[in-house]
Amino acid sequence: MGVGGNETTMTDLLDTDAPRATDRLADPLWWRDAVIYEVYPRSFADGNGDGTGDLAGVRQRLPYLADLGVDAVWFTPWYASPLADGGYDVADYRTIHPDFGTLEDAEALIADALALGIRTIVDVVPNHVSREHEWFRAALAAGPGSAERERFWFRPGDAAPTHWESNFGGETWTRLPDGDWYLHLFDAAQPDLNWAHPDVRREHEEVLRFWLDRGVAGVRIDSAALLVKDPALPEVPAHPRPGEHPNTDRDELHTIYRGWRSVTDAYTGAPGAVDGTRAGTTPAPGTRALVGEIWLEDTDRFTAYLRPDELHTAFNFDFMSRPWNARDLRDSITTTLAAHAPVGAPATWVLSNHDVTRPVTRYGRSASGFSFAAKRFGTPTDLALGTRRARAAALLTAALPGALYVYQGDELGLPEVEDLPLDALQDPMHRRSGGVDPGRDGCRVPIPWVGTEPPYGFSSDARGAVAADPAPTWLPQPADWAPYTVAAQERDPRSMLALYRDAIRLRRELLHHDESFAWLPSDDDVLAFRRGTLVCVVNTGDRPVPLPDHHDVLLASADTSDGTLPSDAAAWLAPEPNPTTQQRN
Ligand code: GLC
Repeated sequence: MGVGGNETTMTDLLDTDAPRATDRLADPLWWRDAVIYEVYPRSFADGNGDGTGDLAGVRQRLPYLADLGVDAVWFTPWYASPLADGGYDVADYRTIHPDFGTLEDAEALIADALALGIRTIVDVVPNHVSREHEWFRAALAAGPGSAERERFWFRPGDAAPTHWESNFGGETWTRLPDGDWYLHLFDAAQPDLNWAHPDVRREHEEVLRFWLDRGVAGVRIDSAALLVKDPALPEVPAHPRPGEHPNTDRDELHTIYRGWRSVTDAYTGAPGAVDGTRAGTTPAPGTRALVGEIWLEDTDRFTAYLRPDELHTAFNFDFMSRPWNARDLRDSITTTLAAHAPVGAPATWVLSNHDVTRPVTRYGRSASGFSFAAKRFGTPTDLALGTRRARAAALLTAALPGALYVYQGDELGLPEVEDLPLDALQDPMHRRSGGVDPGRDGCRVPIPWVGTEPPYGFSSDARGAVAADPAPTWLPQPADWAPYTVAAQERDPRSMLALYRDAIRLRRELLHHDESFAWLPSDDDVLAFRRGTLVCVVNTGDRPVPLPDHHDVLLASADTSDGTLPSDAAAWLAPEPNPTTQQRN
């Protein structure tokens, strides 16, 4: 589509792609190898000119997502919230944040997306709520010892009950003027729920049904391994044995997720299934999938959540955290596939998300792995190198078996914005680190769509035209982002966007529901594997390598016309003639 001129409209897409959309939605196994695009609603597109992204903006840009070829969109929280943690502090799951729109807008968005063959995944944050949630307000009002406080972790005492460290750094307990402490594994604005309380379990199953009834095809579960705590509140052992950590990966979690799985299974057309949609909304056929945000080093503990009666998939952060070298990446791929095989769950491949440093920046550094603890201002970065590697990584991940996640803006090769004015930073990770950690705002800067200066068409009017006099974007965009706009990249067949579009289309043509995978012999610095009729080769070394024997180069992240694969590049090869494919590089 043309971002400025709207060359492709929703109506065109509905006419031309209607059969494809229907076919896609009829597929019960869509979640096993879907391409899922993460939208951070505040920063994707603004449909009312106030400088904050919203659901009207996403609706206008759905043709862009259809052109990209994604199967589903995961929206980070769009609910009523004080936005103390970008919406991961939910005040009310049944109301859309007024900056983003209304419940009717969400229903219309889900329906419009389905009409284009795109499913919607919502984000649920069961570990904690906002301090503004009615339960927490009631707990504060009711005072120490009250039944209302039992839905949370309140404790009396002169000192904090434990020395647990917050995932955002600092304390996990905050003391109230009435003397009680309350637990928050994240910010003080995010009190942890007590999952031993029946209201907490019941309410979350109702929240799932609320959104499944509105046609969503899946739920991303925030901080999925943290919900259950040891009620004795012991300190964290130096080397906890599996299941022994007092607030992470506790065995009781599996019972909770078995309950959630029976909720989603009731919507998937199984015998006895409920209808699955409210009158007037569009059904989302096929499986309703549960996707866990699970950060665990132990791969067997990780895949235990993916047993057939628990979650469908979970994010593979091991792969995302690895540095750019063939040894690490090979090890992660092998370990991941081996760990998933026994439970029959597909792997997922994730290069980034709204929490981590953008890939073109990360891969342009001497320490190219990701770790929250290592984030610092002023880390030297070679963006040209990082971009070459991110292009190669895009082809690598798109060729692997399982589901693929694309975080908004990675398909444009956006770098992390590292020079945001300090007073613009909003992320509690920055504040709670005493300003040492730059925080996560740098990967959340509004998307550039068109034009040569901020706000690069981020804001539109109600008709979808670039807004005449928009408010400044909620986080400022860099002055040098003109080459990154969607419009600029649509004109350039060698752009990151063109590479992503080609990769997603070819992946669907050649690899759809193909779960085969076999390593091929290669140099130490090179990854080479075969998937069905495709061979993927990735060169992480510092000199070109000859391409293996092949019939066609189907797609490449760099020029391979001399028969070699340059340093930090990847290529998709057709080993044998295939009449349906042609060379693109
Ligand atoms: C998850 C989210 C992150 C949020 C945290 C607390 O890690 O991805 O953005 O801050 O949970 O909800």
